[in-house]
Amino acid sequence: MYKEFFGLRANPFNVNPDPRYLFLTRHTEEALACLTYGIQSRKGFVLLTGEVGTGKTTLINKLLEWLRAQQVPTAFIFNSRMNVPQFLDYMMADFGIPCDTRSKSQILLRLYNWLLDRYRAGETAVLIVDEAQNLADEVLEEIRMMTNLETFTEKLLQIVLVGQTELEQKLKGLTFSSACGLPALTASRFLKGKHSVQFTAIRAGSRVW
Ligand SMILES: Nc1ncnc2c1ncn2[C@@H]1O[C@H](COP(=O)(O)OP(=O)(O)O)[C@@H](O)[C@H]1O
Ligand SMILES: [Mg+2]
Repeated sequence: MYKEFFGLRANPFNVNPDPRYLFLTRHTEEALACLTYGIQSRKGFVLLTGEVGTGKTTLINKLLEWLRAQQVPTAFIFNSRMNVPQFLDYMMADFGIPCDTRSKSQILLRLYNWLLDRYRAGETAVLIVDEAQNLADEVLEEIRMMTNLETFTEKLLQIVLVGQTELEQKLKGLTFSSACGLPALTASRFLKGKHSVQFTAIRAGSRVW
């Protein structure tokens, strides 16, 4: 009913992490810049952590939108509770790499050759894993090994791990080219809420403001 009253085209308060409604606070802007910098500099691993509800998934949906607009090949893993074969299978399918084998070494070889082709074509492939704090140790180890796919100077696959703050604990010992964080909501961020509501309403087509 309020959609009609405010002249909205869509429900602006969906719980879905819809990137159209992303409100760029200083923190989200910094985190987005940090992610894009990490990917563009081709150093391998980028980490994004924050408490539940701080906007990580919304932000990476925005990042995915940006990467796809630039024709960057991406694979987005949103279900982190997979075993190694499921993980590899899903990643290959999402990258669009034809793969009819079940053998792990053959899958990795295909991935490597495909990444080399991308590299020669001047492209960067990006793997994004959401809720990475839930990754099984074996899957995390597989991901870590994939950063070894490299030329003499650059990593062939850029990996963005997104998760709750306990992920940092889980990844102790790994080095990241960029570690980006989204701080938990604080009073000062709540004060900015009015603008966020206004922004969301404008995006959703309000004629009232
Ligand atoms: N910067 C933002 N702009 C607009 N909406 C946001 C922003 N950050 C979070 N939200 C909203 O908050 C909710 C939780 O965000 P989400 O991205 O799922 O958080 P997380 O992945 O960190 O748990 C979603 O409904 C999302 O639309
Ligand atoms: Mg999330």
